[in-house]
Amino acid sequence: MADETKIRPSDANAITRRYFDSILIEQRLVGAKTPSLRCTLLGKQFDTPVMMPAFSHLHIFAKEREDGMREYARAAKALGALNFVGMSENEDFAGILEVGAPTVRIIKPYADRDKIFSQLAFAQEHGAWAVGMDIDHSFASDGGPDDVFGEKMAPQTRSDLEEYIRATKLPFVVKGVLSVRDAQACAEAGAKAILVSHHHGRMPFAIPPLMVLPEIVRAVGGSIQVMLDCGIETGADVYKALALGADAVAVGRAMMQPLVRDGAAGVEACVRRINNELAMLMAFTGCASLAEMDPSVLWRDGRPMA
Ligand SMILES: Cc1cc2nc3c(=O)[nH]c(=O)nc-3n(C[C@H](O)[C@H](O)[C@H](O)COP(=O)(O)O)c2cc1C
Repeated sequence: MADETKIRPSDANAITRRYFDSILIEQRLVGAKTPSLRCTLLGKQFDTPVMMPAFSHLHIFAKEREDGMREYARAAKALGALNFVGMSENEDFAGILEVGAPTVRIIKPYADRDKIFSQLAFAQEHGAWAVGMDIDHSFASDGGPDDVFGEKMAPQTRSDLEEYIRATKLPFVVKGVLSVRDAQACAEAGAKAILVSHHHGRMPFAIPPLMVLPEIVRAVGGSIQVMLDCGIETGADVYKALALGADAVAVGRAMMQPLVRDGAAGVEACVRRINNELAMLMAFTGCASLAEMDPSVLWRDGRPMA
């Protein structure tokens, strides 16, 4: 019988973890200063490049915290961080917005296009900061259209993305980009940002977001913002992503236990710990601001990465 506890070689989460840990950081202390984590994301200033995850269905995955999405929003507000919300009905989304954190609504690639347009319009009318779509939830594990809790999904074309982007005044973020090809298509369609992600390993053998990030930044960086998630647990993980060109990162499952245990206070403490670890590494590598970070401090396989 197969050992269910054994990690499969195709597990993209394990591959991603190994890649993060294979990157080392050199020290640059002469002239170094205490760093600032301030950043501008989607046209707004934030106190940290660490963002909340685009989560959903916490009534199933974090039963103890039925109000979990509002708790993330409360933590984001206290931290001066950008909040994200995943699959949600309009009524629930409105409740999250009431908390008052700048929030990006990631809409599912529903087969029902009217639902997409109605959620885009609702987000704009009710004061979301940005909208977007997780294009990596179009297909199921048999290659057919995905079904997420009884709702049919559909693959999205570039002209679909163009239509959504035209339908809203808000900045549009495409989540689930994992190739230069898709990044370029999103930039050409008019997206303001992409979130480089494999959605916690939906596709077997998916490359780590961090591995493809430099190529994506070379192709579209400067014209659109490039965010990243998957496997971020520590300030060192954040540091490596930012040094390789990400503008910001979201912490997903690593913040789930703090949420379950202590609600918004747990999430806040988790991000403050990550912020401190990031600031320490920035100080030790002579980066006084996020703009000063670059890949020349990173080493892999005994050689500088850049
Ligand atoms: C319980 C749960 C619900 C999620 N719901 C959504 C969602 O509705 N929309 C979305 O874009 N991503 C969703 N995600 C994916 C996360 O936003 C993120 O991409 C993923 O967890 C990878 O980050 P991590 O490795 O830090 O967890 C969900 C993840 C989890 C664990």
